Amino acid sequence: MTQRVLILGAGGLLGRALRRTAPAGVELHCPTREDLPLDDLDRLGRRLREQPVDRLFLLAAWTRVDDCESDPERAFRINGILPGRIANLAERRGLPLVFVSTDYVFSGAAVAPYREFDRIEPVNLYGRSKAYGEGAVREASRAARIVRTSGLYGEGGPDFVASIRRALSAGGPLRVVADQITAPTWVDDLARALWVVGLGDEAGTFHLSAAGELSWCDFAREIARASGEDPERITPITAAESGRAAARPAYSVLSGQRAREIFGLSLPETRDALRAFLVGTGA
Ligand SMILES: NC(=O)c1ccc[n+]([C@@H]2O[C@H](COP(=O)([O-])OP(=O)(O)OC[C@H]3O[C@@H](n4cnc5c(N)ncnc54)[C@H](OP(=O)(O)O)[C@@H]3O)[C@@H](O)[C@H]2O)c1
Repeated sequence: MTQRVLILGAGGLLGRALRRTAPAGVELHCPTREDLPLDDLDRLGRRLREQPVDRLFLLAAWTRVDDCESDPERAFRINGILPGRIANLAERRGLPLVFVSTDYVFSGAAVAPYREFDRIEPVNLYGRSKAYGEGAVREASRAARIVRTSGLYGEGGPDFVASIRRALSAGGPLRVVADQITAPTWVDDLARALWVVGLGDEAGTFHLSAAGELSWCDFAREIARASGEDPERITPITAAESGRAAARPAYSVLSGQRAREIFGLSLPETRDALRAFLVGTGA
């Protein structure tokens, strides 16, 4: 049976990956931001009445983590308040909403991968706005699927892999944060898993990110290695030395145990995924 899926934010990094990996039997509806601005709920309501769908994926977000610090109003409106209203609209139509969230809802004080039920305690505005969005979505809709992921990169970027490769080809040394541990995730791996969770029957919160964990500095060195460059060109620095506007959790690895138990899903290991991605780009 055909599943009609409306994606909000289909032009972004993850949206493009979902379009590339859509399974057979999925009919995609991918309005642009101009067709369907997130804050025009009347237009979204009309669209859902006139062209009913079976699932709504909400990827659209303000993802510029450092910029969120200087415009909390905008961050909370787009990442926090609107998702709740959209979930409410979806719930009234009996439509399961898939909301994508982030590892940045956690404080980073943990020493083992975060589970879905662990306490959220964001350390930056972006994380707080997404955490607010999660709460609003949960409150509005019991049918919602909330999927947290981490450190996305993939075709077309913009992302960490592209920035490091650009900086490597420009020559000169590179300084990368070594005291933040995460699991950078190839967006195509996430997209394939997100289709399973998004079209599945189980509601609730799920973690989907690459297996394994490493610091951004080690990941940058992997990128260098896989690109035939000398990894020693990358110098470790501390987060404090990086001078970025937003704090980041020191440890934000997500446990994929729940998705594994319920859906049999496990994403590839982060270094293997990087190599698969780079081979695909012809690097
Ligand atoms: N990227 C990561 O590392 C990462 C990590 C964890 C979680 N996430 C979450 O994953 C989801 C997808 O992220 P992504 O990396 O694909 O984001 P992205 O590349 O920044 O794309 C965001 C999309 O949202 C759209 N959008 C933003 N504001 C909008 C508005 N007011 N009205 C309509 N559309 C709007 C953008 O449209 P335009 O293209 O027209 O601007 C774009 O298509 C987000 O919810 C994000 O919080 C991302």
